[in-house]
Order: sequence, then structure tokens, then C-alpha cells
Amino acid sequence: MSQVTIESILQEKRLFPPSAEFSQSAHIKSLAEYQQICARAQADPQKFWAELAEQELHWFQKWTTVLDWQPPFAKWFEGGKINISYNCLDRHLATWRKNKAALIWEGEPGDSRTLTYAQLHREVCQMANVLKQLGVQKGDRVGIYLPMIPEAAIAMLACARIGAAHTVVFGGFSAEALRDRLVDGQAKLVITADGGWRKDTAVPLKAQVDKALADGSVPTVKDVLVVRRTAQQIQMEPGRDHWWHDLQQGVSANCPAEPMDSEDLLFILYTSGSTGKPKGVVHTTAGYNLYTHITTKWIFDLQDTDVYWCTADIGWITGHSYIVYGPLSNGATTLMYEGAPRPSNPGCMWDVIEKHGVNIFYTAPTAIRAFIKMGEHLPNARNLSSLRLLGTVGEPINPEAWMWYYRIIGGERCPIVDTWWQTETGGIMVTPLPGAIATKPGSATLPFPGIIADVVDLEGNNVPANEGGYLAVRHPWPGMMRTVFGDPDRFRRTYWEHIPPKDGQYTYFAGDGARRDEDGYFWVMGRVDDVINVAGHRLGTMEIESALVSHPAVAEAAVVGKPDDLKGEEIVAFVTLEGTFDPSEELNKELKKHVVQEIGAIARPGEIRFTEALPKTRSGKIMRRLLRSLASGQEVSGDTSTLEDRSVLDKLREGT
Ligand code: WTA
Repeated sequence: MSQVTIESILQEKRLFPPSAEFSQSAHIKSLAEYQQICARAQADPQKFWAELAEQELHWFQKWTTVLDWQPPFAKWFEGGKINISYNCLDRHLATWRKNKAALIWEGEPGDSRTLTYAQLHREVCQMANVLKQLGVQKGDRVGIYLPMIPEAAIAMLACARIGAAHTVVFGGFSAEALRDRLVDGQAKLVITADGGWRKDTAVPLKAQVDKALADGSVPTVKDVLVVRRTAQQIQMEPGRDHWWHDLQQGVSANCPAEPMDSEDLLFILYTSGSTGKPKGVVHTTAGYNLYTHITTKWIFDLQDTDVYWCTADIGWITGHSYIVYGPLSNGATTLMYEGAPRPSNPGCMWDVIEKHGVNIFYTAPTAIRAFIKMGEHLPNARNLSSLRLLGTVGEPINPEAWMWYYRIIGGERCPIVDTWWQTETGGIMVTPLPGAIATKPGSATLPFPGIIADVVDLEGNNVPANEGGYLAVRHPWPGMMRTVFGDPDRFRRTYWEHIPPKDGQYTYFAGDGARRDEDGYFWVMGRVDDVINVAGHRLGTMEIESALVSHPAVAEAAVVGKPDDLKGEEIVAFVTLEGTFDPSEELNKELKKHVVQEIGAIARPGEIRFTEALPKTRSGKIMRRLLRSLASGQEVSGDTSTLEDRSVLDKLREGT
């Protein structure tokens, strides 16, 4: 649990109803309308989703079955033929939106580009044709390791267009992490760039790809397509590596979208869990298209004149669903920004809002806390009056940060949508609909229509109001993950068996603690498993531990999260050393560097504590609860009777 404490939640009584003006022009205009839609969805979920699928999407061929639910495996809209790239592009070309800005892009050094729907369509078709020329076929997997440049969206849409599944790997991941993901996904081709801009430096990407592919360690990868971004020196391996701008020359801009089966694989996105390697979360075509489309439309209350900006990276699910697919499927103008606040330009986010007249701004609580720290003089010096709606995602937001966002950025006129969801859910699950639901600072409020979310105990029973429990979902929904790539058993175990199925009723276990208040509002408390959320990035403690023990000096490692004012949580690693190694400042630094090399900078431990032994139960399980208390400087409370050797605890205490 990070910033949000039970005490602060129980005291939080402020209520912010939407203004009459906002509600009047919103897609969903009142609480009564929201409740009516929910009632309709609950009475006949299949009819509800089928009607939306019919109204909101283009189908090459209509489905025959709305839902085939063989718990925990769902198939939506079977028999249907559809293409998400068609829904994001082609269908808008027949309307006035043809010449509307689809993508506004701001590069970090100040360059920018706007692509209309017609232009984006053209580029996507060209890249799709290039992929085909390189032998990529329907059903193949393509790795994407790109900075935040238009080609990232173009690459995703090009894959979807020809029926190749993409697996986007966040550009901040190391070569090792990239290799693992390419191997697991058996990628045939990788799309990357020479480098990308990050806080005024050109960070290498192609060099990382070279390292990941070295010595044929990913045998399935035959080709690498390289976008020129930073013009830094890179190696091009003849026969394997190709410049995108070379192959784009003269290639046809005509590439009809492949009619895909509804349940054809759209993408794999790797995410951390509490055990083992990151899992390949599988999303398929039609259900994901529908769910991201309708959530974007209603939650961000998209109007055709809006400029919409989500600050996530394309390497995370938020970038997939709410920079690319959801907004484009709606024919919206989506803004993409390569940069981040940095010493040379701490106010850059507000510059972008002012320059492009951004109307909807969606970011993470960690970013908001950083904005607060940098000072309100920065946003106050810009004209932010274009904003009409704000959103947050990725971690619980503390009421103070919420209030600052509301007052300083939103000028007390913009509703805030605090959206709870996960890589696995495909789209937003618990959220205010901004014209309908009054908000409370720190609460994600109510479930999206058609989503039956609950707070339950481990038997699956609803817990009473204001008591803690586990966030769970009762019914399948179109955007849900379908399986773990190559490991359906892991899918079942991880998500559907924590709460034992009862009478054939399966309950989805999200891994988050939550409570509902007397109004039914959800207050998400944070992860209840061994996943830590650092600056909105999700990391498995076990992954970091594996990285640490892969260093020759480390015998054992235990990683826990400790509350952090800025990042929500900070990584603390307890490490025991092999006999011949002694604790030192150098080794401490070296181990941090080693984790960065194995996973990426996002996993750098804030603190490494050397210890002689780790606290374990008699059966050999590390007692993380104790470590968590120690890491955050709290008194170790609760039962310590199962501890194998009590002196370990005393030594750890002395060390702190
Ligand atoms: C956390 C990101 C509180 C939660 C979309 C979840 C949140 C994990 C919120 C998923 C929120 C996300 N309030 N916590 N509004 N949104 N989380 O897969 O712990 O990167 O389980 O997806 O982020 O992280 P993921």
C-alpha cells in the first residue's frame, strides 16, 4: 500500500459533482442514466455488448455467438470478421475526419508532426506492405522496441492490419529483458529506432537490440526494421537490418486490412506478477477493440473537437489502449509526447497543453506528485484554460495530490476520472463517468457499465461497506485477457483460483486490496501480492530478486516495497552475500547497476541492505511482512512466532 492509508480514506468526505454545463453535453449525462445503462447491462450482458458492438464498430462479417464462456476461457463475438486497424483508420476516411488530425506528435527536442487520418492510413499501409515484403505473415509475432515517436503507433497498426501480433517492449527495458520477451513471444521481426530522446540525451535502442539478438540468442528473429530518430552511430547488420526510410521508398500505400477472426491474437504484452518471469498477457481482436472504444468514448467523454493527451508510454497497456486503439477507433485527435519534465524544461508538459490546446489530459499520480514538487509557478505561467477533463491511472492517488490536480491544473472546473484497471483487463474497469458520477478525492468511484466488480474475502463473499477485501470481477467482459501466452494453466491459477470457483461461478482476482464505502464507491489500496508499484510501473519482487542473485556476490535476496512520497513505492532489497564477499559501498552500487542491466532503470533498487541472514519461517519461507516493516522503519508487529531464528530479526533491526 502506498500513499493511501485507511485512515485518510475514512476521513475523506469531500464530494465533487460534475457541473451542469459539463453534464449537459456529456455522452452519459446523469447518475440516473448511468444506473439505467448498468441495469440494462446486468439484465442481459450479451445483448448489451452485442448492441454496442453493432453500433460502434465496423464488421466485415457479423458474429454468430456473442459469448462462449468456458471458465476461465472466454470467446467474444465468434464467427465475426473484423480488423482493428480498419476501425482505427479506414472507416474515418469515408467521413469528414479524413483530414482531421489523428495524431499530433511532439518530440523532446521541439520537433513536431501532425498526421491526419488520411496520412496516418497511408503510413500504416506502407509499413504493413514493408512487413509483408520482409516475410511477416498473419499469425506471426513482431517485437516493437521504439521511443515515443509516430512510428510506434504506425508499427502497431501496421501489424494489426496484416494480422501479425505485436509485442511492444518498453524502451526503458534492458537488452536482457528485451531478449526474454522476444524469445517467449517467438518474434519474427523487431521494429526499433537508432535511439530516442530522454531528458536531453539520445539513448541507444538499436544497440540494445543488437545485444538482445547477439549470438543468435533469439533464433526466430530474421529481420530488424530501424527507424531513424536520433541519427546516432549504429551498426547495421547486412541481410538482417533495414532502414525504414529506405524500404518505405516507393512502397505502395494500398494495403487492404486483413479480415481477422474476432478471437485472433492482436497483441501480447508482458507484465510482472508475483511469481516467475513476466507473463505474456494475450489480447484478441474484437473484444479488445470494442472495450477500448467504448471506455474511451464514455470515460474521456470524447467530443469531435477534442485534443486528447495521454502521457503514458506506448510500452505499457495504457499506451496501447488509450493512446492508440481507443482514441483512434473513436476518430479522435490523440497527442503523443516523446519528452518528460527535465532540468532544461521542467514546465514542458504545460507548454504542450498550451501549444496544442489540449482538452483532455490523462496522467499518473506519480507524475502529479512530481509536478507538485516542481512548483505551481510552472503551470500557473501557462494558459491551461483549454483543459476540460483530467484523468489519472496506474496507482492509488492520495487526496492531496488529487486536490492539487483539481485546483492547479483543472482550475476547479475539470472533472477528474481516477481510472482503475490493469494490463490484464484491457481497459478501464472502475472509474467515474465524468458527466454522471460525483467524484471523491482518492476514489476510483464505480464500475464501468457491464462490469460486475466487488470487494470480496478469499471465499468470494462480498465484504461489508468500509471493510478491506480483495478487488474482484464476477463476469467475463470483452476486453479481458484471454490467456497467458503459451501457459493457459498459469492464467487459470493466477487469476481464477485464488477465489475458489463456486457452483461454476468464476471470480477474477485482480491482486489489489480495496474497500467500498457506504455509497458503493471503490477505494483501491494497492497490491496485496508480491508486486510493487514504483512510479506507476509494475514490478515483481521475484524478478528483481532473480536479477540480484544472478550476480556472483549475492547468495540470497528479498525485495520489498517501502512507501515513498513521490513514487508511491520504493524498492528495498535485503541481500545476503556469498562467503568470499564483504559488504561495501562499491558492491552496493554495483548491485544496483546490475539490476538496471538485467531489467532496466525502472527496477533500480532505491536501497540495498546487506544482512547476514533473512528472516524465514521454519518451512523456509521468507517473511516479507517483517522486511516490509523494517524497510519502512516501522516497529515489527504481529506474530513473529513462526520465525525460525529470532536473532535474525534482532540483527536486521540493529542494521537499520
Ligand atoms: C494499479 C495499468 C489504484 C493497481 C493500467 C493495478 C491503480 C495495477 C489504479 C495495474 C488506480 C492502476 N488506483 N491503483 N486508478 N490504476 N492501479 O498492469 O495496483 O501496469 O493492479 O496497468 O496498477 O498495473 P498495470
